[in-house]
Amino acid sequence: MKKLIFIIFGSTGDLTSRKLLPAIQKLYQDKDIPEESLVIALGRKAYDTNSYLEEMNRSIHGQLDLRMLNKIVHYHQIQITNLNEYERLKQLLEQYADKATRQLFYLAVGPDLFIDVSRNIYQSGLVEKGNETQAVIFEKPFGHDLESATKINHELWEFFTEKQIFRIDHYLGKEMIQNLLTVRFANRIFEDVWYNRAIKNVKIIVKETAGIHNRGGYYDQAGALKDMVQSHLIQMLCLIAMEVPLSYYSEDVKNEKVKVIENISIEKESIVFGQYDGYLNEEKVSPDSTTDTFVFLKAFVNTPRFKGVPFYLMTGKKLDTKQSVIIIEFEETIEQRKWNLPLSTNKLFIKIDPEDGVGLRLNSKVPGLTSKTEEVELEYFTSSSNAFGNKSEAYEKLLLDAATYHKSLFTRWDEIELAWRLIDQIKDLEPTLHPYHHFDDLKAIILEKDEHAL
Ligand code: BG6
Repeated sequence: MKKLIFIIFGSTGDLTSRKLLPAIQKLYQDKDIPEESLVIALGRKAYDTNSYLEEMNRSIHGQLDLRMLNKIVHYHQIQITNLNEYERLKQLLEQYADKATRQLFYLAVGPDLFIDVSRNIYQSGLVEKGNETQAVIFEKPFGHDLESATKINHELWEFFTEKQIFRIDHYLGKEMIQNLLTVRFANRIFEDVWYNRAIKNVKIIVKETAGIHNRGGYYDQAGALKDMVQSHLIQMLCLIAMEVPLSYYSEDVKNEKVKVIENISIEKESIVFGQYDGYLNEEKVSPDSTTDTFVFLKAFVNTPRFKGVPFYLMTGKKLDTKQSVIIIEFEETIEQRKWNLPLSTNKLFIKIDPEDGVGLRLNSKVPGLTSKTEEVELEYFTSSSNAFGNKSEAYEKLLLDAATYHKSLFTRWDEIELAWRLIDQIKDLEPTLHPYHHFDDLKAIILEKDEHAL
């Protein structure tokens, strides 16, 4: 790839400033993308490139290298819903792109704009159906329920081939999520106990301390269940529960993930919805909103391997800590049960954020003359093990993969479709919405649902 162009729709938004520009900056600095890269940032507002970059930099407290970005970014004002305005964009693009140029059209906009913008891209001739040097990337959420997602997908297939469509779930680009299949399948000690006979339960936890930032317009329509569980948490669950794939090629791995989603059942009575104090005062949130900013639920994967093992899924905003982790808890040994000592169960921690690595909790005798026992943890951190402390961000990996035609870390339509089908089953439930100030306010409610859940 000699030349690469990103064309970002929604370039004045939160995602572009917080994730996309920093990721592109890093890829460029590290020479992972060509010297001749270009970012065409599209937006409604009347900026020039300088003032655009300055504004983006201000919104993330000065983390951008403006001198560097000024070399490759070009801001272009456009009303993206107006087809007539695409001709100028096309002319701009033609100045830079030749036949071999990799062109990534990134829709960092809400799903309600996916169809209109895609149609405009297609009808204006910016992207030609079947031309694989041109790809269109869709940020999540892909729709807001099964019906809307199906409609979007149906339309997209009119304009682009599946090979041109990249659906983002940025959790798949995180280091430990990419590492999950290696940890599972390349370690005898795990592979042999990865069954309901040995696994007691699985916890998939994504806690955030932040609120909704300035995303009230989107978030109030979505809530934690749709924003996080439908995508990131279900994807993590798939990687934990899937069978050995036929090969590690993208399609074979996806085929196994799909089988997992088909077999998930959610215990409706277990669901706890919460809303943080102060949410109703957030910008663009309806004053009587019942949107969930926290959700806990218990699910099962009804496959021979995992039948009967509870999967506890929990995610929320304004909680006690920022932490994404998967905890696999193993059954006690027969000896352990007989001894009647205060021994713990073994736990495998897949640590995703803020640190990424693996931890294994074991029982051990306290050293010395005593016969007491204690829990000890074997730990491995990927970022600290890298001499340069050089942890790459999910978006760096995903943008680079899209640039180099790699689709493994992007979701296929049937994964999304089945995940929505699952979420739709519970979207109309109206369980009590628990207000919370601290995570502690929710603990007792969760434990009442299941004493092993936390
Ligand atoms: C996004 C959600 O997909 O993931 C956000 O829309 C959430 O609401 C974010 O804050 C969490 O991602 P991370 O990488 O910070 O855990």
